[in-house]
Amino acid sequence: MSLLITLEGPDGSGKSTQIQLLYRCLEEQGHSVLLSREPGGTPIGEQIRAVLHDVRNTAMLPNTEILLYSASRAQHVGQVIRPALERGEMVLCDRYAESTMAYQGWGHGLDIELLRTITVFATGGLRPDLIIYLDINVVEGLRRKLDAFESGTAEWNRMDQKAQAFHERVRRGYLMMASQEPEKWLVLDGTRSIADIHQKIVDRVRLLLAGNRRD
Ligand code: ADP
Ligand code: TYD
Repeated sequence: MSLLITLEGPDGSGKSTQIQLLYRCLEEQGHSVLLSREPGGTPIGEQIRAVLHDVRNTAMLPNTEILLYSASRAQHVGQVIRPALERGEMVLCDRYAESTMAYQGWGHGLDIELLRTITVFATGGLRPDLIIYLDINVVEGLRRKLDAFESGTAEWNRMDQKAQAFHERVRRGYLMMASQEPEKWLVLDGTRSIADIHQKIVDRVRLLLAGNRRD
């Protein structure tokens, strides 16, 4: 069934962990599922990701950042996501347009309406059917990510090293967006156990599969 489900949250909130678990669970149930991520998801998008996340690129301006994230997204939607949905597959994506609203909009304080316009241009208006938001205290999330980086299982990128106040604004932005569109967002406490969070996600996706078909 063609559905677009995205995972959102502050850095280190557990998105990659949960998306993998959900992917395996849906595959075991016999669904055709495509797993992807942003920025990236295509060869061109991965090249853009390298520029965006290079810790040496400290001179990057917020306007450049939004256009690069959006360029990666335009390629991803056109080359991968839309074709998969047209084939009737489910698409799971680790971050999508709501990351731009949270990080570039709330984090950098760029004009939200302008970001929406740029995002509609990049996505052709494609929105997720469900946005799973893992909430976590910013310090706790970054600590997890630093631990994972030190043990070689995660990258430490240019965005991670932004000030704590930036990440606090990002988190507030996410919570604000979720409160404005509660039917589209599943907000979960990212500090619960991995198994507990997974179960809640599976329950919600089951409901979505039962009743809320795109096609
Ligand atoms: P994200 O993709 O949001 O940055 P990850 O899934 O990579 O987050 O998780 C960051 C780190 O936190 C990893 O080391 C992961 O094993 C750990 N982690 C993920 N979920 C939990 C959880 N619910 N409780 C404790 N640690 C977690
Ligand atoms: P990544 O390592 O994929 O995510 P995480 O840190 O959650 O494991 O890094 C993606 C970074 O890019 C993350 O800090 C959020 C940021 N980002 C934006 O600022 N805007 C966007 O539109 C997207 C997709 C990501």
